[in-house]
Amino acid sequence: MKIFVTRKIPSRGVEMLKVAGHEVRISPHDRVLTKEELVAGGIGANAVLAQLTDKVTRDVLAAWKPTVKIVANYAVGYDNLDVTAAKELGIIVTNTPDVLTETVAEHTFALMLAIAHRVVEADKFMRAGKYVGWEPELLLGTDLSHKILGVVGLGRIGSLVAHHGAQGFGMRVLYYDVKRNENFEKEVNAEFRASPEEIFKAADFVSIHVPLLPTTHHLVNTERLRMMKPTAYLVNTSRGPIVDERALAEALRDKLIKGAAIDVFENEPAMEPLLNELDNVIVTPHIASATEETRQKMGEVAAKNIIAVLSGNEPLNPIL
Ligand code: DGY
Repeated sequence: MKIFVTRKIPSRGVEMLKVAGHEVRISPHDRVLTKEELVAGGIGANAVLAQLTDKVTRDVLAAWKPTVKIVANYAVGYDNLDVTAAKELGIIVTNTPDVLTETVAEHTFALMLAIAHRVVEADKFMRAGKYVGWEPELLLGTDLSHKILGVVGLGRIGSLVAHHGAQGFGMRVLYYDVKRNENFEKEVNAEFRASPEEIFKAADFVSIHVPLLPTTHHLVNTERLRMMKPTAYLVNTSRGPIVDERALAEALRDKLIKGAAIDVFENEPAMEPLLNELDNVIVTPHIASATEETRQKMGEVAAKNIIAVLSGNEPLNPIL
């Protein structure tokens, strides 16, 4: 059967599809496709392996419907897909959970440590030739150890971040989620808070791990940033529009909070220009899952879902 891969991915998943006997067409453009290119690429295909940058809207799905059985999203997040439309049109949609949990949790700590220990500022300082000798008060940072970690969203990634914070750094963990998880509380010695506000007020590090939904859009806004301690940090490795990026930049500029480290942006690939002027923020280009190992595994999961559906079996990771 025919599979359209909307952008080149690490090879393993594509190899699996070929070994299973499928004809794989990878987009010749190593960039985000225009809507026309996306639609045209999927027409006549039996499956589409899509990227989180592909806006798979109702009309895109409708154009693919005559032949496409499955859209396998190469991501755990799926806010780029119109899942309701897919269901109505009878197209299966899948994602890549689990395989990127550890990597994203690691990147969350990479960001948390880097902002708290001023790693990027220090690197720039060295390269600028400003280091003239050890000083007692040179580039003083903040410890993570024994601080309060506030996790907003206790899914797979949020849970692992909470676990690492508690076990790795002896942090006191507070979490907010729409669902309380008492087993997890016992396991990690975490404390449930019934509202995000309680997390924003109390935590030294607030880490965001909710999916992008109408209810989570701008969950981090001026009002909640103002609730944070002036010594606190915000970390976001989930989706950009969950944070009001201009409000965050202004809060950082006005020193309402100590710092932020973000991997995702409200209007990717653009970034709020004010962030570029600030030293108390670290930015990475949506790479929280970007390790060799994990990007290969994401391809494998997407391929396994496609192979299952095209052989008449149930998908492994259906969305909804
Ligand atoms: C995902 O899988 O949703 C991540 O954002 C990819 O890095």
